[in-house]
Amino acid sequence: MSMARRVVMREVGEPEVMHLEGVELEAPGEHEVRVRQTAIGFNYIDVYQRQGKYPLPLPSGLGHEAAGVVEAVGSAVSGFAPGDRVAYMNAGIGAYADVRNVAADRLVPVPGGLSDEQAAAVLFKGLTAQYLLRRTHRVQAGQTVLVHAAAGGVGQILCRWAKALGATVLATAGSPAKCELARRAGADVAVDYSRPDWVRRLLEANGHRKADVVYDSVGRDTFEHSLDCAAPFGLVVLYGAASGPVPPFDTELLNRKGCLYLTRPSVFPHNANPATLRANAAELFEAIARGWVQAEVSQRFALDEVVAMHRAAQSRATQGAVVLVP
Ligand SMILES: NC(=O)c1ccc[n+]([C@@H]2O[C@H](COP(=O)([O-])OP(=O)(O)OC[C@H]3O[C@@H](n4cnc5c(N)ncnc54)[C@H](OP(=O)(O)O)[C@@H]3O)[C@@H](O)[C@H]2O)c1
Repeated sequence: MSMARRVVMREVGEPEVMHLEGVELEAPGEHEVRVRQTAIGFNYIDVYQRQGKYPLPLPSGLGHEAAGVVEAVGSAVSGFAPGDRVAYMNAGIGAYADVRNVAADRLVPVPGGLSDEQAAAVLFKGLTAQYLLRRTHRVQAGQTVLVHAAAGGVGQILCRWAKALGATVLATAGSPAKCELARRAGADVAVDYSRPDWVRRLLEANGHRKADVVYDSVGRDTFEHSLDCAAPFGLVVLYGAASGPVPPFDTELLNRKGCLYLTRPSVFPHNANPATLRANAAELFEAIARGWVQAEVSQRFALDEVVAMHRAAQSRATQGAVVLVP
């Protein structure tokens, strides 16, 4: 038995519902690995879960993603040994901790060129971009792609990777400074969607050509505009709800806006199977090695600053990838 520090919430609500507590950690089970975590990835889903928008049984830990060093392995584990550097993004809730037991088949080895912080910054968000760009819609050279919240963690990765695939990248973000970040991440056009009339300005800047695929993680505030930005027979991918869920709507709208397709996917089923997770991670690490994806940390918070981190994220004061450092 050893001690762990982990974030626990007993009720949903504002960031203050999260508390850092000391708990006893059992030896890893036969198929588990104990990971001493050196970096924990923040993802916006952590906010939805803390707020109760995606309900969790309480009390609950929080967090989906971390990287660190193997400290001990269960009796049936092969392929990992103490000292190995590993990361995970789909091993059950509870990544906000300094040490944790994780099912061995949920782990991927961290490649030599990546630091632990970079791995925790990029695995969840990069695997999200991987399925969005390669599976939900296979982006081809010459296509036009629209990315909302393009200065965010997933947003910047989508811009850079879509650009590397040969797409024209249109982007939106919530301020001029964030639009500049989106441009630096590869966007050909970036407009501030906090200002009115952004759809007209965006399409004008692209010669009135609409997008073959729209990646919308903002939800309520952008959804109808996303339909206006999609080309006839185009695909709208609703993959988040940072501004709130999209209210029920008449599906006839998809017809009126140009026989559009709509999907609402998630990263977890795309990485549920251990072999698929490893294959997807290999594709992501290859994209990083080619410079198509940057594994950059924009902001760091200590584990005991978790409340401040969530405040910053929900008030839109973050950009790029944010990590917690135990
Ligand atoms: N379905 C999936 O598989 C999947 C997987 C990963 C992430 N996601 C979703 O993808 C999105 C991006 O995730 P991330 O972790 O990289 O977060 P993020 O983009 O770094 O942060 C969310 C961003 O959403 C924008 N936003 C727009 N309206 C907002 C509002 N009312 N309140 C707060 N933020 C608002 C903000 O950017 P501006 O200030 O520029 O508007 C904010 O920075 C999230 O919606 C997340 O849930 C979905």
